[in-house]
Amino acid sequence: MDISTNNLNEVLEESRKALPAEILAYIDTVMKGSEPHSQLISVLHKVQGHFGYLAREQLDAVAQLLRVPQAKVTGVATFYHFFRLKPRGRFMINVCLGTACYVKGADLVAQRFKEELGIDFGETSGDGMFSLESSRCLGTCGLAPVVMIDGEVHPKVKPERVPALLEKYRARVRED
Ligand code: FES
Repeated sequence: MDISTNNLNEVLEESRKALPAEILAYIDTVMKGSEPHSQLISVLHKVQGHFGYLAREQLDAVAQLLRVPQAKVTGVATFYHFFRLKPRGRFMINVCLGTACYVKGADLVAQRFKEELGIDFGETSGDGMFSLESSRCLGTCGLAPVVMIDGEVHPKVKPERVPALLEKYRARVRED
């Protein structure tokens, strides 16, 4: 074993520390296949499923272990909207902007959430409490405009109800 092989092994060993055993096992399986690079997206899905988002350390580890250039891993992680590069808030707010909700004023509801939290879609509030997203349809059009928070559906939401809705979830944390 020469010096460069030693160095490579050290780098790979360090990279393995950044990922949980089940993802390492998956990568090991993928690396035995003919085109491990083609599994990059599925590996990133698993990493995000475990950590909730894709941190730099995990992206670098995936690049090393899959033998894919770091720039490519970063490019894929930033290209697809379903990958998150920052941690999610404690509560996910999903404002439906589908047609049925939009015609009932969902854009004004979304705007109020943005103002109250000081964030845009895809961002997390500074206190780490709320992340804000939008949807095309949450499947409950009869209740438009609909907002889903932490998996709970809130029907016929008006902009003026937004502060109380946020307070409800903040109170839940205080009671924990
Ligand atoms: S369009 Fe909003 S729930 Fe269907």
